[in-house]
Amino acid sequence: MSLMFASPVRITPTVRSFTLTSSRRCNYTVMSAVRSDSASTCSVFTKFQNDCETPTPFLRNVADAISDDMRAGLAVEGGGDLPMILTYVDALPSGKEEGLFYALDLGGTNFRVRSVQLGGKQERVVAAESEQLSIPKELMIGTSEELFGFIASNLANFVAKEKPGRFQLETGKKREIGFTFSFPVNQTSIVSGTVIKWTKGFKVSGMEGKNVVACLNEAMEAHGLDMRVSALVNDGVGTLAGARYWDEDVMVGVILGTGTNACYVEQKQKIPKLHSKSSSGTTIINTEWGGFSKILPQTIFDQELDEESINPGEHLYEKMISGMYLGEVVRRVLLQMCKTTDLFGQSIPVKLSTPFALRTEDLCKMQEDNTDDLLSVGTILYNIFEVEANLKERKRVVEVCDTVVKRGGRLAGAGIVAILEKIERETKRMASGQRTVVAMDGALYEKYPQYRRYMQDALVELLGHSLASHVAIKHTKDVSGLGAALLAATNSIY
Ligand code: BGC
Repeated sequence: MSLMFASPVRITPTVRSFTLTSSRRCNYTVMSAVRSDSASTCSVFTKFQNDCETPTPFLRNVADAISDDMRAGLAVEGGGDLPMILTYVDALPSGKEEGLFYALDLGGTNFRVRSVQLGGKQERVVAAESEQLSIPKELMIGTSEELFGFIASNLANFVAKEKPGRFQLETGKKREIGFTFSFPVNQTSIVSGTVIKWTKGFKVSGMEGKNVVACLNEAMEAHGLDMRVSALVNDGVGTLAGARYWDEDVMVGVILGTGTNACYVEQKQKIPKLHSKSSSGTTIINTEWGGFSKILPQTIFDQELDEESINPGEHLYEKMISGMYLGEVVRRVLLQMCKTTDLFGQSIPVKLSTPFALRTEDLCKMQEDNTDDLLSVGTILYNIFEVEANLKERKRVVEVCDTVVKRGGRLAGAGIVAILEKIERETKRMASGQRTVVAMDGALYEKYPQYRRYMQDALVELLGHSLASHVAIKHTKDVSGLGAALLAATNSIY
């Protein structure tokens, strides 16, 4: 089977150690619930595990339901859960692009700015430079002026530091930008669009109905920057474009990171809602699949997480499969187990009630613990929740992590299958032996080997070995910035 996956990246735990025999058990609340169950025969866990089951026939139904929603979203605006956004990207990079272009990337935990000197078919990327900053929490829920002011001021600093010898802007030309804005946007052209909704913990005020590019332009002007946005793209589109630059068989771009999304190459004839004159050829569709919500195996923990989130009722698929939420689901299950069993002793650790205290990367570190006594699981639980877990408890915690990660990985696999099958129905490329590449980016995919494995299993189960043998999942790290710069080049005004 040639289904290809990136080599796993090892994450070194940076937790401090502790002695299991220490008598320090601090910060506990007095129990209020009746704890009749024992951690080893916990009914909360058994029920949760059952509710999270995703056997192959069930996954098949999920893939089919996603497929139905894709079709409905292509037929008419708002036809299904998936908006199937027209991106106005009809031409993907050819390799011939030349000149100096910039990429801004906003949409997750970090903000990135980069410059890329493109040298055409022979030289490709001649020089590239980038800078990354984490986005201050308050800006994620602040005003649009604050957020775009932050972007423009960092862009100004970046340009000011540019080394003249390495990057050359042709005389008379403005610096052109590919702006990766990784939220659902109702795109009206390659350089304009309005935010449909915020995701991933962002809720920026003052942007209702406002063109995202206009917001950036105003901020750049205020910072004395004479630059021009030539392409507004989603990170999934950027990943697809950047990966296609190196590999002509790339048909899908998937993000599995803080948030999730998938974009793919669609035949224009198969898009009834596209009323353009030239309905031949292909275009890129941004599925915004995070919004899928049908027949998902939602548990009470998922429901509560959703209700308490910044975007209740929205992006339910994202809340089950992406990096922002997996740790939080586990924390909620552990808290409930603590309330009803003797997990972690006689009282409930205070820190277990802190939302998002457990991160998805902590789950990964715990699942990577191969020691007999699960020492690093114990260390992580101590460092985060101040609990001294015995071996049985540590094992139970790992089981909860595995349940959540397995469900997430398998559901993500079903989504990818829905897209691949749609492409296959229209092109028959896999059946005719043609390689089909899914370009993949995002820290969850990159850094969580178990998640990757579960996703891969689901893919093969649903596609079958024969079709799956023509699919390559290619880890294309950070390629979306290059993709955005390339799309700025493709859509250059010069
Ligand atoms: C957003 C998408 C984005 C994805 C990955 C989701 O929350 O809705 O637009 O592509 O995250 O960053």
